Amino acid sequence: MKRKYSAIMLLIVFVLSFTLIIGCQKAKEKTTEVKNIAADTAETVTDQVSETTEVIKRTAVEAKENTVGKLTEEKDRASAIITKDAALEKEVKAVVSIPEKVVSKSGPQERAGGKYVGAKKCKACHLKQFKSWSKTNMYTSFESLKPGQKAEAKTKAGFDPDKDYTNDAECLRCHTTGYGKGGFVSIETTPKLAGVQCEGCHGPGSEYSTIMRKNKQFKLEDVKKAGLIIPSENEEGCMECHGGDSPFNETLDPKYKFEFKERLEKTHEHFPLKYQH
Ligand code: HEC
Ligand code: HEC
Ligand code: HEC
Ligand code: HEC
Repeated sequence: MKRKYSAIMLLIVFVLSFTLIIGCQKAKEKTTEVKNIAADTAETVTDQVSETTEVIKRTAVEAKENTVGKLTEEKDRASAIITKDAALEKEVKAVVSIPEKVVSKSGPQERAGGKYVGAKKCKACHLKQFKSWSKTNMYTSFESLKPGQKAEAKTKAGFDPDKDYTNDAECLRCHTTGYGKGGFVSIETTPKLAGVQCEGCHGPGSEYSTIMRKNKQFKLEDVKKAGLIIPSENEEGCMECHGGDSPFNETLDPKYKFEFKERLEKTHEHFPLKYQH
């Protein structure tokens, strides 16, 4: 009886220790697994941290480069302005000194309010309008008088396409600036006034551009007194050239019809002014 009892006990002990051993094994495995996961996670975190650090570093470097670039740009722009100012000073001195040269050539029909100075003078302060205007055929209207130019249109109007009209007073009064009014005389003596320039529409500029130079916030009334024409206020100014005595008027071809409002838009692109005048 006692024997049987101890045999059972032995069996129980055996089973228990077996379970314990298996359990331990499992626990060990579990621990290793957890350890591995932990290691993996740690590695991922380390990777991410170094990646983020890398990104931050790169951004910082880029930002620095950007700032340096911007600063250099600003510096360049500043020195450009300084040079431009000096150039402007010179331009204006030239504008002021030009009238003497022009006076001797001024005819009796010379307009009140100054002498013709040429588009280049206006360009110094109105680059955008100048660029836009120089894309129109007003800029090249002196070229139109040369032999071979716009041959088809000339033939249609009864002109000889092979003839040189660049010395023809009849054509010059509409294809140049200030002809017979103290402006254009000939391509040899006044090349800077060839074509229909700023002053063809805005009036001779020596006096009003001096006012514009002295005070950017000038009163409109003052520059008008000095000869500035605001074209939309005066269709007659356009009709001196676009009227019925132009060989290229609407009776030759409807495309030459002068629609004032529409044409005002096509003179040059218009940009908002900075100041109230
Ligand atoms: C030294 C610089 C300078 C020169 C040269 C100059 N202008 Fe101006 N002009 C100005 C300034 C500044 C203004 C005002 C700009 C603003 O308010 O944004 C102005 C304004 C004008 C306006 C607008 C006036 C208004 O109030 O509606 C016209 C048109 C004009 N200029 C035409 C000319 C023409 C044409 C010439 C050449 C004959 C010329 N300017 C030469 C500086 C100049
Ligand atoms: C001094 C003469 C003259 C005056 C003043 C004049 N124009 Fe003209 N205009 C011309 C000539 C010449 C051409 C054509 C040039 C060519 O094709 O050779 C022309 C062309 C034009 C064009 C066509 C531009 C293009 O490239 O399609 C427009 C727009 C225009 N003028 C508007 C006006 C307006 C608006 C006025 C008045 C504010 C005016 N013009 C005053 C002589 C003049
Ligand atoms: C009364 C002013 C006036 C006179 C004078 C004048 N023109 Fe013009 N001419 C114009 C105008 C304005 C235009 C532009 C018409 C338009 O685009 O509506 C023009 C345009 C032209 C064109 C371009 C036409 C086209 O379709 O491209 C030629 C070429 C031309 N003129 C040649 C001459 C010649 C050559 C003479 C002299 C024999 C002359 N013009 C005399 C005002 C005149
Ligand atoms: C064919 C006519 C014509 C010619 C040529 C012309 N302009 Fe104008 N300009 C105008 C018209 C139209 C306006 C609009 C103002 C108005 O009449 O109410 C104007 C406006 C301006 C203004 C005011 C701001 C703006 O952009 O509208 C300036 C500045 C100016 N012109 C400068 C010039 C200069 C510089 C040139 C020569 C490079 C030139 N213009 C040539 C017709 C002309």
